[in-house]
Amino acid sequence: DERINIAIDGPAGAGKSTVARTVAAQLGYVYIDTGAMYRAVTLSARRAGIDPLDTAALAAHASGLTITLAPGKEGQLVYLNGEDVTAEIRSRDVNLHVSQVAASEKVRSLLVAKQQELAKDKGVVMDGRDIGSCVLPGAELKVFLTASVKERAQRRFIEAGSALGVTLEQLEKEIAERDRMDEQREFSPLKIAPDAILLDSTSMSINEVADAIVSLSRTKL
Ligand code: C5P
Repeated sequence: DERINIAIDGPAGAGKSTVARTVAAQLGYVYIDTGAMYRAVTLSARRAGIDPLDTAALAAHASGLTITLAPGKEGQLVYLNGEDVTAEIRSRDVNLHVSQVAASEKVRSLLVAKQQELAKDKGVVMDGRDIGSCVLPGAELKVFLTASVKERAQRRFIEAGSALGVTLEQLEKEIAERDRMDEQREFSPLKIAPDAILLDSTSMSINEVADAIVSLSRTKL
């Protein structure tokens, strides 16, 4: 089989999802946004009034959820128990709580099993924090995509700043805080897999990054 799996990890706002989607489209692969899954669990827990730090309640809640990803016209659609939550999972409230939810070992094991199942036939571009290090340790190509926190905040601000109702400074603080929590958590923290290729996109366009990854993928076939 000449299809491979590609893991794209990195901090919030590094451009992973746009890059991963572009790479998947160019290769005819399936794009899987794992952050969307953690976001959907977070949205559901918040609606249910569950404290993200109450690990037992969170675990029980998460095991009862059905989260589905489906390709849409403008990117991936996310369904929570059949409801389209694609837009709502990008809210500021979800941004502020998702790293706490993602720190839960039980939530992670539920979602990782799902992600591994989705990638078992290869031909997948998966983006997240722990894809190369934990979800798909055997991925043929692993990329760690980063950019300065200032640049990442600026990109998010241009993309969704007014909708999020925050200033650029506030957004930069919130992104740095999310990085800190993702790097310091006990279970599969954000870290660079030893065999990952580090790409700093601070002064690269989305298309330049995507082209670089597509070229790298050809060397792995
Ligand atoms: O990629 P995105 O910013 O949408 O991810 C939201 C959050 O989900 C991250 O800040 C992180 O806490 C969590 N996440 C994770 N592992 C992944 C993907 C996302 O812990 N593979």
